[in-house]
Order: sequence, then structure tokens, then C-alpha cells
Amino acid sequence: MNIRVSHHLLLCATSTKSLCCNPKNGIKSWEKLKRTLQELNLEDPKRAEGIVLRSKVDCLRVCSEGPILLIWPEGTWYHKVTPNLIELIVKEHIIRGEPINEFIFKRMILKE
Ligand code: FES
Repeated sequence: MNIRVSHHLLLCATSTKSLCCNPKNGIKSWEKLKRTLQELNLEDPKRAEGIVLRSKVDCLRVCSEGPILLIWPEGTWYHKVTPNLIELIVKEHIIRGEPINEFIFKRMILKE
């Protein structure tokens, strides 16, 4: 099966270390991410731009001011990702292609 992927979102929300956020708050961001992607039909394999993948990861080695969200392929890192910010990021960054600079703390492009 050949599915096109537009973005992959990795969220450190419920880390076992609990260093960058309270997991009770982090899980709300994760649930919001899941709900938002589903509601906006971004997980549809027929989506022309490709599907949006999401992964809940244990730790992205930042460990402060979380939840931390890393978005590929741009290599954009967001911090303090509350449920409200998650929705904004999905709508602005993922759908409209306009990152929210105010909450970005790092950009890291991988070599090809
Ligand atoms: S615990 Fe979130 S980045 Fe390490």
C-alpha cells in the first residue's frame, strides 16, 4: 500500500519522566490532537495533500516547557502546546502552511 504523508506530528505529552509537563495536562493536548485531526479529516488516505500522522512519544530530549511538539518534514519545534494551541497549529501550520512563530523555539532541517 502506498499512502502519501504530508506531515508527521510527534508529541511528548505523557512522558514517564514527567519533566516537561504534567502528564494530566499533556494527555489533554494529545486527545485534542487526535480529535482535531479526525474532525478536519486529515487522516483520510484519500486526502490530496497526504495524511497527517501523529505519534505520542515518551521524550524528545527537550524536557522543559512542554508539551513539546515536533513537526516533520519541516523540523519545527513548538513548546507549551496546550489543547487550544494544538488546534491552532493544525489549522494554521498544517492546513494553511503558516507556522506560528510565537511558539516555535527551534527549526531543524534534516539533510537529504
Ligand atoms: S520529557 Fe518531554 S521532551 Fe523530555
